Amino acid sequence: MLRIGMLTSGGDCQALNAAMRGVVKGVCSKRNDVEIYGFMDGYKGLIYSNFKMLTSRDFSGILTRGGTILGTSRQPFKLMRVPDENGLDKVEAMKHTYHKLNLDCLVILGGNGTHKTANLLREEGLNVITLPKTIDNDLWGTDMTFGFQSAVDVATDTIDRIHTTATSHSRVFIVEVMGHKVGWVTLHAGVAGGADIILLPEIPYDIKVVVNAIRKRAEEGKRFTIIAVAEGAISKEDAKLSKKEFKEKKAKENYPSVAYELAERIQKKMDQEVRITVPGHTQRGGSPCPYDRVLATRLGAAAAERILEGDYGYMMAIRRGEITKVPLAEVAGKLKTVDPEAGIIKEARMTGISFGDK
Ligand code: F6P
Repeated sequence: MLRIGMLTSGGDCQALNAAMRGVVKGVCSKRNDVEIYGFMDGYKGLIYSNFKMLTSRDFSGILTRGGTILGTSRQPFKLMRVPDENGLDKVEAMKHTYHKLNLDCLVILGGNGTHKTANLLREEGLNVITLPKTIDNDLWGTDMTFGFQSAVDVATDTIDRIHTTATSHSRVFIVEVMGHKVGWVTLHAGVAGGADIILLPEIPYDIKVVVNAIRKRAEEGKRFTIIAVAEGAISKEDAKLSKKEFKEKKAKENYPSVAYELAERIQKKMDQEVRITVPGHTQRGGSPCPYDRVLATRLGAAAAERILEGDYGYMMAIRRGEITKVPLAEVAGKLKTVDPEAGIIKEARMTGISFGDK
């Protein structure tokens, strides 16, 4: 008997179901003696032994379904070694569930935090295979995470729709795109949607440069300006602050989010009306785009191959178009950020996009 535990952890994204389907279809195409234990709501299900027994049938018809059939939750890595309110040792509890059910392996779908815990479980002796999910595309070791392209589609659609109303009203529009630590979605949606200014956490902006870029457009007879700003975009002054000073400053300013701060700073310097649009969690919702369905299916099927061979301790990844395995020890704790010198940034600048820095 092959006993597989499976869980989805952290913020959800599109194609989680497609990836799990890929794993199960792959394993069940080669073996009939498979038991699948689906842990509910991420690591919480593994800690508190909350699971449901699933069959390959449960994974049929879910290729196109958004969200996750297992539910998910955020269980911060830094709290994993801290006992719960009843004194329960979470790591020991997860190991206990694993051994009690006599599992052969765990398939864990998640982003950065999830991978740190997955690696911890590997270090504790459990057989783990992971799949890289997140709209943020910030997992080190893979060129792409599933969820990313779908989120780019949604954010691009938002920018597309804003274009027409921005033109009609001659307004400056700020579209706030998800990504606190990295700007991948903002960068790609910004380029795809033809944003005029793109502000990323990786390239601190100067408000004077941003305002000048808007003025220049007006002088050229352009009636509107669209700014795609990542949730974590930061000004040059703020980038110089220590983490503590930054936190205190933000708490004092009390803006609902970066778009509101930016809108106020721009509005102070110009008459043109400024408006804000925040697509928020719509970027993580709905059906996965075809690219993500394909990527998730490939990663899932490749994970199935590892499981059938009993080869554990890896994240499945895509590199240069090929699916490969990357040791979990290498992935855990590393963030893949946008390189300010990357080709895509240079090419975007060539087309006249301002990153608000120079
Ligand atoms: O981890 C992905 C992400 O979508 C970030 O880009 C975003 O800032 C965050 O999750 C939102 O998290 P929550 O769903 O907890 O509000």
